[in-house]
Amino acid sequence: MLVLGIESSCDETAAAVVNENGDILSNVVLSQLKTHQVYGGVVPEIAAREHLEHIDKVIAAAMKDANISFGDLNGVAATCGPGLIGGLMIGMMSAKAIASVHKIPFFGINHLEGHLLTARLTDKIEFPYLVLLISGGHTQLLIAEELGKYRRVGTTLDDAAGECFDKSAKLMGLPYPGGPNIEKIAKECMDSNAATQRFQLPAPMKDKKTCDFSFSGLKTAVRLHVDNLPEGALNRSDVAELSCALEIKIAEILANKSARAVSQFKKLFGRSETAKAFVVCGGVSANQKIRQQLEMLALRSDMTFHAPPPSLSGDNGAMIAWVGMERLLANNDSSLGDPLDFAAKPRWPLDPDAPKRQGAGVKA
Ligand code: KG4
Ligand code: ZN
Repeated sequence: MLVLGIESSCDETAAAVVNENGDILSNVVLSQLKTHQVYGGVVPEIAAREHLEHIDKVIAAAMKDANISFGDLNGVAATCGPGLIGGLMIGMMSAKAIASVHKIPFFGINHLEGHLLTARLTDKIEFPYLVLLISGGHTQLLIAEELGKYRRVGTTLDDAAGECFDKSAKLMGLPYPGGPNIEKIAKECMDSNAATQRFQLPAPMKDKKTCDFSFSGLKTAVRLHVDNLPEGALNRSDVAELSCALEIKIAEILANKSARAVSQFKKLFGRSETAKAFVVCGGVSANQKIRQQLEMLALRSDMTFHAPPPSLSGDNGAMIAWVGMERLLANNDSSLGDPLDFAAKPRWPLDPDAPKRQGAGVKA
């Protein structure tokens, strides 16, 4: 069986084909990075126009790389939320058109579910498992109980971890996207102990006995450090040291809250032989210091650790195709899928039953 997946929720136009064994037959990602970089962040209207211009070519390239034609597909999946509405509409409408013409099921996919299920695509892990989702828009701890059933155990009350990287990078004069650029320059810092001593940063919510996060205070602390340097003194080694200190602090916060979530997971599923996986996913999961901390936590907790390969940590079509494939396999009925009047949803929480959180930037 073959499913085409289309992703256009933010600034990547992407399409991919996967089969039921989890083989990725093609994975085409066209980044709009250069277009948005001059503005220091993603401009929604420009993103939508770029998606519109490139989506057909990206889909055609994914089909060509997979060496198949539309008639070979058993389903077509597209991200329908959460994300920027213009981009979502373009990917979703393309998928619906393909589904309609070729009489195959259409699947409207939650982008976050794509990140969450990537570990099943790559590592074939079983439900239930614990997930830390760290992206530009979301920072959440979730238990993936079964396909379509996700229990949120923690979320950010304000900025996401990726947002903290991006905003802090801007404050230090580094280009967008901040995460990879902070990681790159932090490697120039030769003494991480000295860096964390010089640039002390808070760990907001550290002592709160919940799995919730807060990152906006951390970004403010970065701004204060930048402001407190004598004017014009933010040289390359300052930026390298502050970047290193920030990475270490974010890794520490993520590991600390994940440890709490591991305890909750074990209380719920400790007796199960198979419930042993700890998964990290989303764009920020590409960060090596963060991966190391989380891998150490998994080891200490007698859990297996799963992080996506670089080609699947950021936004891509393969993760969207895979959710479609999982739904196809679960249904055993290829006529099923979502209706063609399925609406795009700029906000789409994975766990609609999760208790509402109070916070300036709570998104889901
Ligand atoms: O999952 P993603 O590609 O898009 C969203 O769904 O948001 O995540 C993008 C985020 C950005 O904030 C970017 O700065 C961050 O992931 N990121 C990183 C790294 N690579 C990407 N953050 C830290 N270190 C990295 N190496
Ligand atoms: Zn994403």
